[in-house]
Amino acid sequence: MIRTWRLDGPRQTLALGSRNDRLPRVIYWGPRLPDDEDMDVIYDAHKIDVTGGSLDANPELTICPESSRTFPGQPGLVLADGDGSALYSRFFYESEVKGENHISLTYSDEGLGLVYTAHFLIDPETHILESKAVLEANRPVRLHWLSAPVLPAPHYCDEMWDFTGRWCGEFQIAKTPWTAGGRYRNNRTGRTGHEAFPGLILPCRGATNTAGEAYAFHYGWSGGHRMVAEELPDGRRQVQFGHANGTETAPGTRFETATLYATYSDAGLNGCAVSFQRHLRDRIVKWPDPDRPRPVHYNCWEAVYFDHKLPVLKEIATKAASLGAERFVLDDGWFGLRDDDTRALADWQVDPRKYPDGLGPLIEHVQSEGMAFGIWLEPEMINPDSETYRAHPDWALGLDDQILGRQQMCLDMSNPSVREYLYEQFADLLGKNDIDYIKWDHNRVLPMPDAAQPRGTYLLLDRLRRDFPKVEIESCASGGGRIDFGILQRTQRVWLSDSNDALERLRIQHNAALFLPMAITGSHVGPRECHTSGRVLDIRFRAWVAAQRHMGFEMDPRELSIEEVRVLQQVTTWWKTNRLWMTRADILRLDSADPAVIAEQQMAEDGTRFVVFAGKADSSTQIAPRPLRLTGLDPAARYRVDILNREDLVALSRGTIALKDGPIEASGRYLMTMGIALPWSFPCGMWVVEGERL
Ligand code: DGJ
Repeated sequence: MIRTWRLDGPRQTLALGSRNDRLPRVIYWGPRLPDDEDMDVIYDAHKIDVTGGSLDANPELTICPESSRTFPGQPGLVLADGDGSALYSRFFYESEVKGENHISLTYSDEGLGLVYTAHFLIDPETHILESKAVLEANRPVRLHWLSAPVLPAPHYCDEMWDFTGRWCGEFQIAKTPWTAGGRYRNNRTGRTGHEAFPGLILPCRGATNTAGEAYAFHYGWSGGHRMVAEELPDGRRQVQFGHANGTETAPGTRFETATLYATYSDAGLNGCAVSFQRHLRDRIVKWPDPDRPRPVHYNCWEAVYFDHKLPVLKEIATKAASLGAERFVLDDGWFGLRDDDTRALADWQVDPRKYPDGLGPLIEHVQSEGMAFGIWLEPEMINPDSETYRAHPDWALGLDDQILGRQQMCLDMSNPSVREYLYEQFADLLGKNDIDYIKWDHNRVLPMPDAAQPRGTYLLLDRLRRDFPKVEIESCASGGGRIDFGILQRTQRVWLSDSNDALERLRIQHNAALFLPMAITGSHVGPRECHTSGRVLDIRFRAWVAAQRHMGFEMDPRELSIEEVRVLQQVTTWWKTNRLWMTRADILRLDSADPAVIAEQQMAEDGTRFVVFAGKADSSTQIAPRPLRLTGLDPAARYRVDILNREDLVALSRGTIALKDGPIEASGRYLMTMGIALPWSFPCGMWVVEGERL
């Protein structure tokens, strides 16, 4: 007997099928099928041939491929009994629950006392397919691996793109050709990591940012993921995502994967990117006040580091406010004896040497300047040199002689006493002070990965969010070391990178936009001489790169020249004027013909306006700038397009191109085909081009 199921969204269909009550396989995933498509026919039609040297039938590539069924690739479940002996499941259909946009399918193995449930949901507006797997056992078992429901990878696809990176260099794309065997990412650092953002993009042959077909995936988990993208000997391909191997360290009777978010696009990589951006902004992030415009930040880290002096901080706050800041974030150094990064983490008492009257006087000053007050915390960490460690050495995670990271250890977040202690410290801090925002940092990897750790962190975050629902939280981990949809269910902003180098940031932002919307992506104007790269970049470039995302400042404003202040005020005013529509806009990566230009178009939700940021990341090989093709416009409509920052023209631009003198008006067809000719510019500059539908 054949059973089939289909889930439809406006743009895609996911079809599942199974025979003889075995686990189902994905028999189709792609553009939406006609409503009257015969699923039994599709079930039969999707099967591939067998030949000499093969088994007599192809082993089923199900949503949880089973070793017991001669499956030649990576199984979806690796399990052992309490005594360590291997368990090889043979699941059979048990029940199902179907709704308009979702299906849950339950299978059991009575002999082994196991129940497996797969959940699928398609969001009809964002086009994101959410899925997760749950395994239950009638006695404690040991889980080595459980994949979220396995999805197929297309055959008409030559490369897989996943993500690598480093501190100050997040979101680097690693392109691997599809060949026989698997690409395996197993992030055993215990946190999402700079080096392993849990995403995968499968561009079908010929796909670009703006055209063609693509599939994309993201695993929403903060404890380190495992990905297997594998081509079987018969040519079929599977994609598995789950928690990193062996991170369920204790026997249990119930395990579940995090949610796997996936989508199909027929509008290039941007189709996937826009789905993730919207889903994250509108479905995942819980905004304390969704109508509140994103406030311009000032963060004092790179201005004062640990050297907190109240009069200096007040002066800085006043200057930050005059630039346009609306939120002042007091970074590391305000608590315990925290004069450098060797001590005091976990001693969450305001340092009376630096703040004899508590934080009140600084908060009052910040508020008198019209700004809200935010504060830095690193809750999951402890320095061996701290009062808390001396009192509770057993609260630290890992061995006594472990390698420290930034002179610190992790707290054991699975320990309820640790969570209670932290909750009390922060509830007291938030109760006594008018704090609008927490920058929640996490500056080292775990001594050994353990899924109980992120679960404990989630519990603490959830409790604080419940009791202090107005406080926004930023996820920071030495910059972008913890960016995923799991942490973003509990936070509202990410500190994308510790790199305030606008040149590096331009690329990091561009790639991060494959998943992250403007509303949650923090970006600050850093010091004139960048502290992490030594580069000296012009204030205009620094300002515009920050204005591409949730804008802020992080330099010491006392270093700014009159001209730099003028530029920052001007760009910040522009950002404030435009932030409401930009917060709801889609970030569309442009296919720049010139590899030296990294460009994007932020397109308003209603299509009536857009802004293009064309960053010059390098010198071009050719003499004159190549026209930049726009995207997402109505080919038949007319648009007025104008350069906003024409004052940044340099004398070496000597021609008489149209946009130099004023706006041009042209059809969407023209702008998307021929593109706009921009003036010649120096590297490390940005053209900002505004467009309006006529
Ligand atoms: C790492 C963060 O990424 C920085 O922005 C800063 O908050 C420091 N930690 C503080 O220790």
